[in-house]
Amino acid sequence: MIADFARTAVAPALAALEAHRVEIGHRRIVELFADDPARAQTFRAQLGDLTFDYSKQRATGATLAHLFNLARAAHLEIRRDALFSGEAVNLTEKRAAMHMALRDFTGGPALVEGRDVTADVLVERAKMLTFAKQVREGALRGSTGERFTDVVNIGIGGSDLGPAMAARALSPYRGDGPRTHFVSNVDGADLADTLKNLDLARTLFIVSSKTFTTQETMTNAASARARVAARLGEKAVGDHFAAVSTKLDLVGQFGVKPERVFGFWDWVGGRYSLWSSIGLALAISIGPKHFEDFLRGGADADKHFAQSPMEENIPVLMGLLGVWHRNVWGHGSQAVIPYDQRLARFPAWLQQLDMESNGKCVTREGEPVVMATAPVIWGEPGTNGQHAFFQMLHQGTDVVPVDFLIAAQPSDADARHHDLLFANCLAQSEALMTGRTLNEAQAALSAQGLSESEIARLAPHKVFPGDRPSSTFLYRKLDPRTLGRLLALYEHKVFVQSVIWNVNAFDQWGVELGKEMCSKLAPVVGDASASLDGLAPATAALIAQRRELMG
Ligand code: F6P
Repeated sequence: MIADFARTAVAPALAALEAHRVEIGHRRIVELFADDPARAQTFRAQLGDLTFDYSKQRATGATLAHLFNLARAAHLEIRRDALFSGEAVNLTEKRAAMHMALRDFTGGPALVEGRDVTADVLVERAKMLTFAKQVREGALRGSTGERFTDVVNIGIGGSDLGPAMAARALSPYRGDGPRTHFVSNVDGADLADTLKNLDLARTLFIVSSKTFTTQETMTNAASARARVAARLGEKAVGDHFAAVSTKLDLVGQFGVKPERVFGFWDWVGGRYSLWSSIGLALAISIGPKHFEDFLRGGADADKHFAQSPMEENIPVLMGLLGVWHRNVWGHGSQAVIPYDQRLARFPAWLQQLDMESNGKCVTREGEPVVMATAPVIWGEPGTNGQHAFFQMLHQGTDVVPVDFLIAAQPSDADARHHDLLFANCLAQSEALMTGRTLNEAQAALSAQGLSESEIARLAPHKVFPGDRPSSTFLYRKLDPRTLGRLLALYEHKVFVQSVIWNVNAFDQWGVELGKEMCSKLAPVVGDASASLDGLAPATAALIAQRRELMG
């Protein structure tokens, strides 16, 4: 392993980091604050009103210097520039990953493999936003002449998680626009439960699929189509469906009117597609102006990532601190805790972004990766998580670095709730860092008047190891621009880590095998008389048992 590792270009920089860990590993984060009284002001970076505070990380100025050396050894800046110049950085699929062109307001050029795509992007965006406006204002109506009160996006993965997360996050910006719903799972309960209380005459469906072949989406779309045809007649289908895809020929076969088909391009990865026409449900929900503000937020983060020096560059800092956790300290997971109920789907969105991008075990050249890649990303909104898994964060045997996200201002007017939310967020990150020693625990119990034997019995349970690292994002308000900034910062953080690990962040071959096996199994599962011969024994046994259970 060591020998393999030594072959990598980043090996000396990582070895230096490892030696540095041994040097500073015994120092607690609270001591780092004592050493450097300005730490709370200096260990932070800024993008507009958004602050990235990493002062509660187990890192010193020397740590950062080592991490920047690592980034240089991995040619981070060269690789970043290749990304922004529209080179085919997705080597296996021979494509650029130029989602930044979708949110570019400079007037271009935005090059994709040498071709300026600015005009294409603007035309498609204008078409999509005009449609969104018409739906919102009731200029486009259903087959019976009624306004659309509900929009159902049918998609999965990147064609669902981004719009679903953002529509919920920005729900205060909906005004009197239609309600949006998201159906993704091939489990029929998802579609059935969503449609239960909707009037199909007032419902618009958007079939969102980059490939327009994804089993779940096509199955849900066909079922929704059948329901519309049954309730409103076959002719009504065209009035109740729109579609977003890169495969315009396949969309045509489904029966969507050409003027309701919105395209994008294969240089936009699924998990980076919210900024494209895949954002249609979001654009209908919040309206064109707010959608453009959201794009501008993404553009702010692009400029910041492309131009800021490493010391002030938030995605670089986020990515490198993640590498410090993963590769030097060996932390296997990373929690993200938005103190914002409307960001409830943010961890799920980030799971796809991070784990589908960097959950790889071969390098860009197809060699085995010799260091750990994507950690497990997980989380839930605070304060709910505090009453569920925070016990483990504070006293469990594994250290889990945390990202906290919080707005200064509430989205709703209730300041008292937000003060409590804010206090909880700060209290948790501080408690994770400071912990509580045995002496402190004993003193607290003694102050409560407990006997010596009770103190001895209880005190060990009341010890908090502390020294658990976290970063905090603080921003004025969760508005469209801020959300755009946050999402694009995380996108670039994932890219930074892919560069250090030398994996291709833009393909996802790992999702294929299960899909292939399912396409072979589905006919066997669906036909109770089909032979089970030749199936893997465990699979055959479970199908047989299911047949028995189904009678
Ligand atoms: O799960 C794999 C994946 O290809 C994702 O990358 C993608 O976001 C999702 O499926 C949906 O794909 P499509 O938009 O083509 O339906």
